[in-house]
Amino acid sequence: MKRSNFLITLLTGALVLSSCVSNKPAERADEIDKKVNALLAQMTIEEKVGQMVQYNGFYDATGPAPSEGNAQEKYDNLKKGGVGSFLNVRGAKQVRALQKIAVEETRLGIPLIFGLDVIHGHKTLSPIPLAESASWDMQAIKKSARVAAIEASAIGINWTFAPMVDIYRDARWGRVMEGAGEDPYLGAKIGVARIKGFQGDDLSAHNTIAACAKHFAGYGFVEAGKEYNTVDFGTSTLYNIVLPPFKAAVDADVKTVMNAFNIVNGVPSTGNKFLQRDILKGKWGFKGYVISDWASGAEMVNHGFAADLKEASLHAAEAGCDMDMESYTYVNHLVDLVEEGKVNVSIVDEAVGRILRVKYELGLFDDPYKYCDEAREKELLYHDDHQAAALDMAHKSVVLLKNEGGILPLAKDQKKIAVIGALADDKTSMLGSWRIGSDDGTAVSVLEGLNKHTANYTYAKGADVVAGDVNFVFHLNENTTDKSGFKEAIQLAKKSEVVVMVLGEHGFHSGEARSRTKIDLPGVQQQLLEEVYKVNQNIVLVLTNGRPLALPWAADNIPAIVETWQLGTQSGNAIADVLFGAYNPSGKLPMSFPRSVGQCPIYYNKFSTGRPVNAEKNVFWSHYTDEENDPLYAFGYGLSYTTFEYADLKIDDANPKAIKVSVKVTNTGGVSGEEVTQLYIRDKAASVVRPIKELKGFEKYTLAANESKEVTFTLTDAELGFYDNQGNFIVEPGMFDVMVGTSSVKGLSGSFELK
Ligand code: NOJ
Repeated sequence: MKRSNFLITLLTGALVLSSCVSNKPAERADEIDKKVNALLAQMTIEEKVGQMVQYNGFYDATGPAPSEGNAQEKYDNLKKGGVGSFLNVRGAKQVRALQKIAVEETRLGIPLIFGLDVIHGHKTLSPIPLAESASWDMQAIKKSARVAAIEASAIGINWTFAPMVDIYRDARWGRVMEGAGEDPYLGAKIGVARIKGFQGDDLSAHNTIAACAKHFAGYGFVEAGKEYNTVDFGTSTLYNIVLPPFKAAVDADVKTVMNAFNIVNGVPSTGNKFLQRDILKGKWGFKGYVISDWASGAEMVNHGFAADLKEASLHAAEAGCDMDMESYTYVNHLVDLVEEGKVNVSIVDEAVGRILRVKYELGLFDDPYKYCDEAREKELLYHDDHQAAALDMAHKSVVLLKNEGGILPLAKDQKKIAVIGALADDKTSMLGSWRIGSDDGTAVSVLEGLNKHTANYTYAKGADVVAGDVNFVFHLNENTTDKSGFKEAIQLAKKSEVVVMVLGEHGFHSGEARSRTKIDLPGVQQQLLEEVYKVNQNIVLVLTNGRPLALPWAADNIPAIVETWQLGTQSGNAIADVLFGAYNPSGKLPMSFPRSVGQCPIYYNKFSTGRPVNAEKNVFWSHYTDEENDPLYAFGYGLSYTTFEYADLKIDDANPKAIKVSVKVTNTGGVSGEEVTQLYIRDKAASVVRPIKELKGFEKYTLAANESKEVTFTLTDAELGFYDNQGNFIVEPGMFDVMVGTSSVKGLSGSFELK
């Protein structure tokens, strides 16, 4: 902004209110409240509703203004002060151009807030969130979000639609890649780490951005894993599984919450007063604002909850949805609803107050262009430091699922390695499906990663995973027929000592709207694996996928299996480091891997049934006739190149407010390694039944060869209590089982009585 214009704006508009605020949080909040109220007092109802409107980016803001149709309508509305936010506008120049209109050409000059799905990085991509979650490393996850914020804030973005803190149990759902898995305790910790990374210590800094806990609530429970489907769960699940990560996010001062596409108890989340007003803003005292999901306001008509868009607008506003993303419900109807006396203006004031407060907290009133520095943009995107952080995160996200006969790590001088699989030579797929800001072809491929360790490999594609072009908005075409590359791959395998097969899903097999009913290796890859196995059984299967896959044949037959998910920009480097032992894998599964898709939903923290075991040796117990009950790989499971032995479980229950549980862990495998020790409890009898196992503590640490460590956990009311069906947190005395170990299925067990 030119200095003269800036002064004029200062004298006439909202920036009058923006003089620097205190550094002390309480004083600062007070000052911001005053400014918000003063600004609200100046606003017309149209300007207020405008703040509640978020548009998708609609034109090249550095070019001529749109002069027809919907784009012109949006543009005119922007100039009237009728828009509070944009999504999907990126680049310092673009953001600056739109911000300039809002700040310099509207009556009050209120800055826009710019949101984007910065899910696991912007240009430099970390592993997909499910993969990061396998690290169980809160510092690394926080750092990954910090890096994402630094890059995103350098391109004008001040708000990310992350973290997704939905809990889910069904690998058929494509969005499992975007969250932290099936457990609310781990999920809450990871959500908080991400929020802290995005928002930093000072939200008004130029490199911190507002976070958004989504999707409030229950989106992870879409029936049968089918995207956008009906959701139906009980009260106990709502309070104990679905809500805790959101509550943790609010306690961590997340600035925004996104509601969800789905219904909860027959009421769409966007129009759900119970969720948004009673719980989020009421009981939890959330101070930020709620954004709808994309068009979820309008979709309430399809749900059969609102007769038309005007009624949808009424329901959403009354229920506490503060900003509408691309539904056009508020922009087209809310002013009328207020003027007709159907929506009280206090509802609008409350919503606008919340939105303005976040804009003040971000410092947008002090300097609306602080995120629009092209020099910073140029300097920071794909920065070396970000690559280093992404590599560290990628290392930590890998889960070693099987390593029979110590086939891994490969020897440095390993001869005759065959590398097979189209995904080994792919520089895009491993960026994952939420690669919105990044550039295709920027992932280090597995072959490129291997080049840094060995020249002794030969590559054969074997078969393509997809046929034809891939596109974020259209279905993938899987290669289900072309096996022309099999012969070359088989011949190569025959004359090789070891075969590294890189198989799995393409990046666009998972993500939004990517539900699958088969969760095996897509296309002809399973056949390729079995054909190669016939000639060489010395196979290392490197899996790359965005969801748990059901691969019982591989688990039975292939000696080594490495889960590498989609590891982002540094994929190939991280994978090769693990294969050659330059990094000792330490990841643990954040989600159960089923044996068969028919087991879904499958999760470790299930309830006992009335017939949990085959006591009578007949069919009348809770089981399948054609499949085991257990998953293929359990929650919390993951191997290392070393081994850890657990001994000396001690439980000290003298103080019921701080029960101490400790265990001695020794690295017995001869090389240094990282372990994640996990603590699970079972409340044996409660007024609302409790799961057979619940994670209530974990610690990640490194042990040198032969080194031992005592790991101690303290169980307080927070870990031992639960929510009753009225949503009260209660702690009930009685017997508890406790297990401490290396996964949800392996550890030392004891019990104590809570008095
Ligand atoms: C729809 C998704 O459900 C949501 O998570 C995302 O943030 C918005 N689209 C915006 O892209």
